[in-house]
Amino acid sequence: MNIIIIGKSGQLAFELSRELKNSDHQVTLLGRDDIDITNSDIIEASLAPLSPDVLINASAYTAVDKAEEDTEACNAINAIAVKNLATFCNAHGAFMVHVSTDYVFNGHKGSPYLTDDPIEPQGAYGKSKAEGEKALLEILPEASCLIRTAWVYSSHGNNFVKTMLRLMADKPQLSVIDDQIGTPTWAKGLAEVCVSAAENKAVGVYHWTDEGVASWYDFAMAIQELGIEKGLLSSAITVLPIPSSQYPTPAKRPHYSVLDKQTAREAFASCKPTHWRKQLSIMLDELEA
Ligand SMILES: NC(=O)c1ccc[n+]([C@@H]2O[C@H](COP(=O)([O-])OP(=O)(O)OC[C@H]3O[C@@H](n4cnc5c(N)ncnc54)[C@H](OP(=O)(O)O)[C@@H]3O)[C@@H](O)[C@H]2O)c1
Repeated sequence: MNIIIIGKSGQLAFELSRELKNSDHQVTLLGRDDIDITNSDIIEASLAPLSPDVLINASAYTAVDKAEEDTEACNAINAIAVKNLATFCNAHGAFMVHVSTDYVFNGHKGSPYLTDDPIEPQGAYGKSKAEGEKALLEILPEASCLIRTAWVYSSHGNNFVKTMLRLMADKPQLSVIDDQIGTPTWAKGLAEVCVSAAENKAVGVYHWTDEGVASWYDFAMAIQELGIEKGLLSSAITVLPIPSSQYPTPAKRPHYSVLDKQTAREAFASCKPTHWRKQLSIMLDELEA
């Protein structure tokens, strides 16, 4: 297949390119220097000559707090660009794999969110991603795969794991929120699911995270424990659990955003979800190496 990946410098795109490296597919990675996805004419001129069978959109405006002020730029990438890319795929018979977020939910449910649960995003980032979802499903209902995920990290790029390792090496004490519950997700597993979605043209809305449940505090403690075990950190610092009320952020986040993966387990049977702590351990081995 001829696969185009948009958002080439991000975490997911990095793992997608590793996943597809030894495949038989022809893969083209494009970033913001190659294509302006907010402009439909540029999309047409840039992508039509490449005749993609599948387009994987790994690009997004992911700065959740900055999005509260930078709403226009956030909407341009997370909503308008998704509409543009879906319109291109519709016109050219290409299948589109798109990734969204647990932050489209309000976090009040208290049990894992099903793919058809009502969405009610709390912040500008979540609202923009919800707009993108709506555009995709309106334009390409029969030729798209929408995968919601959460708390993504990889050895490449900026993320919570690398921030924690840096702060734990520099500071004597840290406070980390313990009342936001979700599931950390290694981008490598997510990339495997995106590739399976592309190869099987898996139509529909799916949820994919690693296995298990954690607060940001649990995640931070695991990063410290495993970081010391693997020699990435020399000693333990004090990590204090705090409520979100003691760490106000510009964007409101859901208190509980665990995603139910049942439909994805069935659709992507070759991709077995692995517990987040095991995935974290393997990724830290990679960082250490
Ligand atoms: N990260 C998370 O915790 C998380 C959680 C839930 C869902 N998701 C979703 O998962 C997907 C992958 O996220 P990720 O963690 O891989 O994000 P990421 O590391 O922030 O990468 C996003 C990529 O999008 C690119 N991009 C931004 N604006 C662009 C534009 N105008 N044109 C072309 N490229 C542009 C960025 O390029 P630059 O590097 O040049 O800015 C970056 O390469 C996204 O849909 C995201 O919403 C992520």
